[in-house]
Amino acid sequence: MSANGPSLPLPVRIAGTGSYLPERVLSNGELEKMVETSDEWIAARTGIRERRIAAEGEFTSHMASEAARRALEQSGVPASEIELIIVATITPDTLTPATACYVQQQIGALRAVAFDVSAACSGFLYAMELARHAVGAGAFRNALIVGAEKLSAFVDWSDRNTCVLFGDGAGAAVLVPSTNGGGRILATTLGTDGAQAELLNIPGGGSACPAPPGGAAPRPAVLAMQGREVFKHAVNAMRQAAIDGIAAAGLDIGDIDLIIPHQANLRIIDAIVERLDFRRENVFINLDRYGNTSAAAVAIALDEANRQGRVAPGDRILLVAFGAGLTWASAVVEW
Ligand code: ACO
Repeated sequence: MSANGPSLPLPVRIAGTGSYLPERVLSNGELEKMVETSDEWIAARTGIRERRIAAEGEFTSHMASEAARRALEQSGVPASEIELIIVATITPDTLTPATACYVQQQIGALRAVAFDVSAACSGFLYAMELARHAVGAGAFRNALIVGAEKLSAFVDWSDRNTCVLFGDGAGAAVLVPSTNGGGRILATTLGTDGAQAELLNIPGGGSACPAPPGGAAPRPAVLAMQGREVFKHAVNAMRQAAIDGIAAAGLDIGDIDLIIPHQANLRIIDAIVERLDFRRENVFINLDRYGNTSAAAVAIALDEANRQGRVAPGDRILLVAFGAGLTWASAVVEW
């Protein structure tokens, strides 16, 4: 577990947010025709009603770039002045180069250093932590961070255990030094437990695939998950990440105005909120419309909360996530 660390020379704030969801809506009713499931089961066990699916030829980088354009517009920083781009994704356009390189070209941020991070659903907060340090240390004048996923390309559409859970989309934020005493990122907490890697993975598609000589079949490049086990870890890790993040910010749970949790399962969110003894109405939820969009989920929710006026200057927001790795992360932001 890595916590907040020493304070940075420059405080860093979020200057703008953006998000993008593909047009195509896939409802639970449509899934009933694809696998043996029901709207009632999916809604009761997960809270999900529908999710978005990227069009053919619409890649992770395209969604990332659209979310990035919207975040840049809100921030007032032109793409040509962006110095660092970090894209969090587990569904890159290609194994190499990084999806961030495509985004750099697509948005015209040609001065920026660009690379990806792979931390599944925690990826956007991992990217935020890296970018906060890069900007806060004065090494880069600003940073664009993006969480973007085309999970529909890595889901086994005949596996009801997983295909009902995931969706596509992207969210982005622009980070700049906080020079006017306004908002800032107060603290972040990251954690990883590689011993649990097998609980949730995409076994194929990497250098371990195809299988070694000996006749074993290549491993499939689709998402595999031990749902019940992941559920238990998710509740414990997100609760602890929330507690650690709030403590690192020098705050109490009562000081938090809004929680923006990873959008995997409403029952996971309810369990965490109950254990934290927090007000349910101050928890931002959109998983009913988008399902689990992994690294994009917290980023999309942050942008929707921002654009819906759910956050005001001075508000303290807790962002908290959990995903494959296993990984977890939290950030406390003063808006
Ligand atoms: N429709 C109908 N029945 C189903 C479906 C479905 N879509 N999926 C599973 N079932 C059945 C199972 O086969 C099982 O039947 P059985 O009892 O006859 O064996 C029954 O429903 C119960 O299955 P469980 O797996 O125990 O159901 P559970 O209540 O745990 O819900 C779920 C499953 C939704 C996957 C839950 O475990 C979960 O959300 N886990 C966490 C997922 C997560 O948070 N992932 C985060 C990271 S994602 C990332 O990093 C990319």
